[in-house]
Amino acid sequence: MRRRAKITIVGAGFVGATTAHWCAVHELGDIVLVDVPATENMPRGKALDLMQSSPIAGFDANVIGSNDYEATRGSDVVVITAGIPRKPGMSRDDLLVTNARVVSAVAEQVKATSPEAVLIVVTNPLDVMTQRVWQISGFPPNRVVGQAGVLDTARYRTFLALELGVSVEDITALLMGGHGDTMVPLPNYTSVGGIPVTKLISPQRLAEIVQRTRDGGAEIVNLLKTGSAYYAPSAAVAQMVEAIVKDKKRLIPCSAYCDREYGVGGYYVGVPVVLGAGGVERVVELDLDAQERADFQNSVEAVKGLVNTMNQLTGAAPAS
Ligand code: NAI
Ligand code: 2OP
Repeated sequence: MRRRAKITIVGAGFVGATTAHWCAVHELGDIVLVDVPATENMPRGKALDLMQSSPIAGFDANVIGSNDYEATRGSDVVVITAGIPRKPGMSRDDLLVTNARVVSAVAEQVKATSPEAVLIVVTNPLDVMTQRVWQISGFPPNRVVGQAGVLDTARYRTFLALELGVSVEDITALLMGGHGDTMVPLPNYTSVGGIPVTKLISPQRLAEIVQRTRDGGAEIVNLLKTGSAYYAPSAAVAQMVEAIVKDKKRLIPCSAYCDREYGVGGYYVGVPVVLGAGGVERVVELDLDAQERADFQNSVEAVKGLVNTMNQLTGAAPAS
């Protein structure tokens, strides 16, 4: 009989704990929540509280909390949410140095305890932190993937559903590039019940919705004042965990390692991928038009610039 998947979530804060919640209620596996020793028993408390919801919510999953990576040993999937979130007025890029140090320390621990896991990076600035985790872990690039596109397309789909007064379930959409101000929503690859969105919404209104999507994270930060979004981000992570533990081979946008793909040259950036048990099983290459290609290239350059800044400020990670 197949054992339950073992899912570790590093960082038991808002995104980490809510990811544990979604993974538990969807019975994706047994869950270990880990945080730094300074948090003392906090991960244990959150895990116990979540377990005690299981008779009511109706799920079977062991959820434990720990400050020690021994508890995570042999995980199938490790989600990295450790780090600091942004505050109003900060961009995701302002988190660069602090979070690079945090995810480097986490990647070292994960490499030692779960060498066969698929790693899902969530910490911002997302594409750059994914690159750093890949460098430090030394894992094959397909077993390190970043979460951004599932969240960004969910925001885009939500805004389109509100605009058209239709179910979110009928909207499929795609988005590429880095998880930042340069992200590239793709109206040509967006449809509503099979109808191209460009036939339903004027170009001007669509441009406004695209801009609101780009600003989607900041909109929540400005409302919350004390941190950043977590319900939708953690639901997005859980969808990626599900794709991996159930080998669903979902075709979804993720931050994936691209070398020859799209001519990126060895960086993590948002592209459509097939996500399954092996992690990123394939990057799907689309025939972009001239404007889409230029926008994507602009976004890739922003990610590359930030990777270079990270390497200068924190010391380049060893080649993996
Ligand atoms: P939070 O502050 O609620 O939680 C972060 C947790 O990480 C804290 O409990 C902290 O103690 C822990 N932590 C710090 N250093 C650690 C280490 N070395 N090892 C283990 N745990 C450590 O923050 P929140 O809201 O959960 O956000 C976490 C990160 O996720 C932030 O960088 C945020 O910007 C990012 N994020 C990314 C999204 C995406 O779409 N990729 C969406 C939402 C947030
Ligand atoms: C978001 O987009 C903060 O990256 C996070 O909400």
